[in-house]
Amino acid sequence: MARACIASINLEAIKRNYLYAKSLAPNSQAIAIVKANAYGHGAVEVATHLQDTVDAFGVACTEEAIEIRGAGLEKKPILLLEGMFEQSELELLEKYQLLPVIGNQSQLQWILDAKLKNPTKVFVKYDSGMSRLGFHKGEFKQALKALEASNNISDIVLMTHFSKADEPYDISTQNQIDNFNRIANETGHPSSIANSAGIVAWRNSHKQYNRPGIMLYGSSPFTEARYQKNLVPAMTLSSVLISIKSFKKGQGIGYGSRFICKQDMQIGVVAVGYADGYSRHAKDGTPVFINNTRSRIVGRVSMDMTTIDLTNVPNPKIGDRVEMFGENIGINEVAEFSNTISYEILTKITKRVYINYIT
Ligand SMILES: Cc1ncc(COP(=O)(O)O)c(C=O)c1O
Repeated sequence: MARACIASINLEAIKRNYLYAKSLAPNSQAIAIVKANAYGHGAVEVATHLQDTVDAFGVACTEEAIEIRGAGLEKKPILLLEGMFEQSELELLEKYQLLPVIGNQSQLQWILDAKLKNPTKVFVKYDSGMSRLGFHKGEFKQALKALEASNNISDIVLMTHFSKADEPYDISTQNQIDNFNRIANETGHPSSIANSAGIVAWRNSHKQYNRPGIMLYGSSPFTEARYQKNLVPAMTLSSVLISIKSFKKGQGIGYGSRFICKQDMQIGVVAVGYADGYSRHAKDGTPVFINNTRSRIVGRVSMDMTTIDLTNVPNPKIGDRVEMFGENIGINEVAEFSNTISYEILTKITKRVYINYIT
């Protein structure tokens, strides 16, 4: 192996996190969200490992669903969270047995006009306050009526999505739940509201179907540490030390000399950079883990390399493995230092990184 940058992916951890999501909402089905290549963990590998455990899968689009079906995974329903992008996809829905979300007038018309061999289950999306996809109140009631009357439709699930559920003290989440309930309770149809944050912190958002995403991969949607404790990180990104050098107080490190040594220091170079998906926005002080010791990055992340402080690291040697995030360094911590969220870091790991699956 030429490059030593590895993302170790613990598939059992993902299963455990799924079962934890189920244990928090034992009366709900949980649709495992595996869009965006299972948040960077490999959709086919993750879906294969979870197939016998999960109630259903959720993806963003037909291409992602077909990738899963193409791997021979035919047992579980797959929900298309953004529905169809064009009318011609209806054929694929039938062929691959995919369930669409209907969230706008075009999608509604396409499904009503379709000549389906068998009626299908659909999720209908209500915009309860996210202001993204979904029907507003008046349109929603009309869409529902039309779907209820259509021979193309066998079952209807009402759905909405949170905008701020990761802020546990923000009133707008309860407002969204109330808004959704007011319209859903009149209908008698089952519902789906909760994402990971809803499952963990908003119990009254648990409906017949929950939709856990980020928590499956072991990252809490919340910044507060207490929400992290039952989740097992699934991905550990690491690489090796390829240089160790000493620098004098006052010397600058890396591009733009962003970091200036405040004392004589020993600096290591790790073979991981932004072309592997490690954020160029990581600030000085972003934690890393080496030789059982927490240390930090110093200087700007470059394309293939990152400089770290070895001054207080015991006995560093070329080839020592350095964890950038995962088992010992929380990805949320790295995300905060990089001014982003764990979702973005996980989905941006590039194909140059060697993936090592652990089951
Ligand atoms: C409609 C929908 N449901 C569920 C999820 C899963 O959300 P999370 O990863 O925060 O659990 C997403 C993710 O973006 C989504 O778009």
